[in-house]
Amino acid sequence: MDSHTGSETMIVQRIANGTVIDHIPSGKALAVLKLLGDPHVKGFRVALVMNVSSKKMGKKDIVKVEGVELSDEQVQRLALVAPQATLNFVRSYQVVAKRNVSPPSVVVGLLKCVNPTCITVKQREPVYSTFLLSSQAPLTYVCRYCGRELGEYEISSQVQ
Ligand code: CTP
Ligand code: ZN
Repeated sequence: MDSHTGSETMIVQRIANGTVIDHIPSGKALAVLKLLGDPHVKGFRVALVMNVSSKKMGKKDIVKVEGVELSDEQVQRLALVAPQATLNFVRSYQVVAKRNVSPPSVVVGLLKCVNPTCITVKQREPVYSTFLLSSQAPLTYVCRYCGRELGEYEISSQVQ
């Protein structure tokens, strides 16, 4: 059990229903929150847990959202911001399913090529960008049209 879940060290209570996004690399909780949309606009309750100890990761962040199931698009964006994250679906206080996210092998239309002479950027009628996964760790995608690489930092900042 991760140390924040132990009764003595727990800093945020368990949720009744919703999604716990666990094993977020430390420092990325705010980026994950952004891709869920503004809780004040959408009206859901959310708890951010940052910088807690994890056996697997050293330090990690956690985002708990009540009453929300992530859309497929949000899961895809999560996989690009925090590929190590795990999704825990909670019903009546129990974790009823766990899911790893994994960066898709092809990402269409979501990422932008940073090569100013790339056809996907230059065209007046923009061609949908297509990126192919070239490395899981560190996460790297390659533009299908010009071969330019996007690294972890570029990917996270574009997805938010
Ligand atoms: N959790 C929660 N509310 C619940 C149930 C679980 O907020 N009603 C949170 C836990 O605090 C934990 C995560 O959901 O951060 C996963 O819960 P659980 O599977 O019980 O923990 P672990 O066994 O530590 O998970 P893992 O093996 O994936 O690290
Ligand atoms: Zn390109």
